[in-house]
Amino acid sequence: MKAVRAFAPATVANVSCGFDILGFAIDAMGDEVEVRLKDETGLVVVSIEGDQGRLPYEVEKNTCAVAIQAMLDEMDRQVGMEIYLRKGLPLGSGMGSSAASAVAALVAANRLLGEPFEKKGLLPFAMAAEKVACGAGHADNVAPSLLGGFVLIRDYHPLDVIKLHVPEGLHCTLLHPHFELKTSDSRSVLRDNVSLKHSTIQSGNVAGLIAGLFQEDFELIGRSLRDVIAEPYRATLIPGFYETKEAVKGAGALGMGISGSGPTMFALSKGSETSPAIIRAAEQVYESIGLGVDAYHSAVNIRGAYVIEEK
Ligand code: HSE
Repeated sequence: MKAVRAFAPATVANVSCGFDILGFAIDAMGDEVEVRLKDETGLVVVSIEGDQGRLPYEVEKNTCAVAIQAMLDEMDRQVGMEIYLRKGLPLGSGMGSSAASAVAALVAANRLLGEPFEKKGLLPFAMAAEKVACGAGHADNVAPSLLGGFVLIRDYHPLDVIKLHVPEGLHCTLLHPHFELKTSDSRSVLRDNVSLKHSTIQSGNVAGLIAGLFQEDFELIGRSLRDVIAEPYRATLIPGFYETKEAVKGAGALGMGISGSGPTMFALSKGSETSPAIIRAAEQVYESIGLGVDAYHSAVNIRGAYVIEEK
């Protein structure tokens, strides 16, 4: 085997109440990475498509290369690899774009080396890439992109990642207004301290959301999509956020929040039937403020990242 191509899906991190600890993968989109063995040792990023020339080729800055290098360092191995990245995800969108690239690269490189790591074992390397991409080694995008489904990061030290139940029919509509937000900028508006009152509210909603998933109680899932820690600050960066939330709930969504660090918003619903009405409601809000919005709808992706082709 000389080359492996892998796919990693987009993700919704935080899921409102679970800042840095909850995320799920979606089916609608993702990134592809091909990794090829080469004779001379060292990593080279050979091509990047679909980024309008904006992502770095330097191996110290490119998330694919950073992730693979972290894996090789852990194994204490010197290997030569070429990296070919095809972006399916928009940059700065809040749909886990940097995570999907790093995860696809790791899944391809791991297979190329004979799978020395289990899927979960790749997580720390993907987190190292997130640290380079956005200044924080959070796992709530990389874990669901890698493993699929709905994922809880119970702890970071040591890393404790738990897959949650996904109710049949849980559906997600993503609304991506036409502007970018860097995760680092969206993190910089957050406060370091949380009041006791807000901590209580947030814990109740995380617990409620997880109970709702396991009990397949869609109403409970909906009312647990409440975030008093990040959303109040980040919503100020997203024009039309609260109007959209009200409009999509009126159109049948269980609830809505910011996908990761934004500006994409996610709405959950029971089944896909309400999705067209949710999209229309959001489009009307953004028409009125003169901003375009792309919409995608998808079931929760259960499979996570996978190898597409070996050559
Ligand atoms: N948990 C991270 C944040 C996700 O909210 O900053 C970034 O996509």
